[in-house]
Amino acid sequence: MKLIKFLFIFVFLYFVCIFGLHYERKSHSVLVALFCRNKEHTLPYFLSLFSQINYPKYRISLFIRSDHNQDQTNEIIRDWLAVNEKHYHSIDVILDEKSIGYFGEGSITNWTSQRFNHIIKLKEEALAKAMQIWADYIWFLDVDVFILEPDILLFLIKEKKPIAAPMLKSLDTYSNYWCGMSSSYWYVRTDDYLPILDYKKTGCFNVPMVHSSVLIDLTYIDSIKLTFNSSRIPNYDGPLDDIIAFAISAKIADLSMFVCNHEKFGFLPPPLDPEDDIKVEYQHITELKLESLIKFPLWPLSKELRKYSLPLQEKSKLGFDNIYLINLRRRPDRLKRMMQSFNELGIESEVFSAIDGKDINANYIKKLGIKQLNNYKDPWWKRDMKYGEIGCFLSHYFIWQEIVQNKYEKVSFFL
Ligand SMILES: *[C@@H]1O[C@H](CO)[C@@H](O)[C@H](O)[C@H]1NC(C)=O
Ligand SMILES: *[C@@H]1O[C@H](CO)[C@@H](O)[C@H](O)[C@H]1NC(C)=O
Repeated sequence: MKLIKFLFIFVFLYFVCIFGLHYERKSHSVLVALFCRNKEHTLPYFLSLFSQINYPKYRISLFIRSDHNQDQTNEIIRDWLAVNEKHYHSIDVILDEKSIGYFGEGSITNWTSQRFNHIIKLKEEALAKAMQIWADYIWFLDVDVFILEPDILLFLIKEKKPIAAPMLKSLDTYSNYWCGMSSSYWYVRTDDYLPILDYKKTGCFNVPMVHSSVLIDLTYIDSIKLTFNSSRIPNYDGPLDDIIAFAISAKIADLSMFVCNHEKFGFLPPPLDPEDDIKVEYQHITELKLESLIKFPLWPLSKELRKYSLPLQEKSKLGFDNIYLINLRRRPDRLKRMMQSFNELGIESEVFSAIDGKDINANYIKKLGIKQLNNYKDPWWKRDMKYGEIGCFLSHYFIWQEIVQNKYEKVSFFL
């Protein structure tokens, strides 16, 4: 009897646990730190993509600093805030209109020590602010990171790492993590780097350096030891550099850094050399957009930022008499992607509807007087030509006829 009573109580408690005590909890609070300088070419995309992040905005505080601009960076931020500010928990923003450049920098792509000290000061302020408002997380996010995975924050938080960065693709082999650091604190390429970059190894990997998009869990007690200011690190003998100082302070605090590539999170442009003109970055952005189009839709622009979109290149035929874009009518998806790429590149093309192997039959071929050469066999498969191959040939053949008719001398094909 006693046993049955116990059993009953046990079963009762079990159901209470499952059905009765399910409380929904708030999302973690996150302070996002954004630092802007001369970013009119990335900000409209950055902010539009940032607005689409799938995370309750009332749990996000923004810390925005913008200074030393010679372009419309401040105007863009102001227009975006006018529409979006109300959704966020709080905004701490300073748009400095007066500062223009740093002493002796020559070009705005040059990082002088004054500039390093300025960003170090701002990052320290953001960190202090996040701790002051008891944010669970702080997310240092560069405003030229293009986030294409809306669940990025949910994914990173779920990993429960002290410091986590989403792996971001760039041009060539650049990315926002290092797998090795030399004793003098510089970049070292190790065997782990490329397999992570190419998604041959996926997951979250403990690395000595992450930057550009770094999420820090401030609920770790030792997060108080994190700093971007090397003067606060005992015996630091490295360079004046915010991200290197940060990585060293994380190591001392025993807070591990991870780069995560289990999702495809987005892109960032490679860094510029001090000699580079800012226009070099425009070119990089175009290349990243094209890279991104392989898997993602065209980067959106929020309504309030559309007026800041960069003027597209004037369209031309690049010196050819004509540029043909051969596309199967039943693949409108590919046509759309090609047209978007051509828009970015300023290429003027003529769409030519490909002859579809699926529409070809013996009758059609006979009517055109096409015959396969006697004894012809596909060199690899040892079989007759297929309708798809004949269609491909005919698409070119009909264009050749046009070339002759129009007396074109230089023609380019895309298919
Ligand atoms: C970058 O700044 C440093 C320090 O002011 C200066 O010596 C150097 O000439 C600058 N480089 C360029 C390419 O402007
Ligand atoms: C770094 O910390 C030192 C010592 O606290 C301070 O004097 C210095 O102004 C700080 N530097 C920056 C760039 O904030």
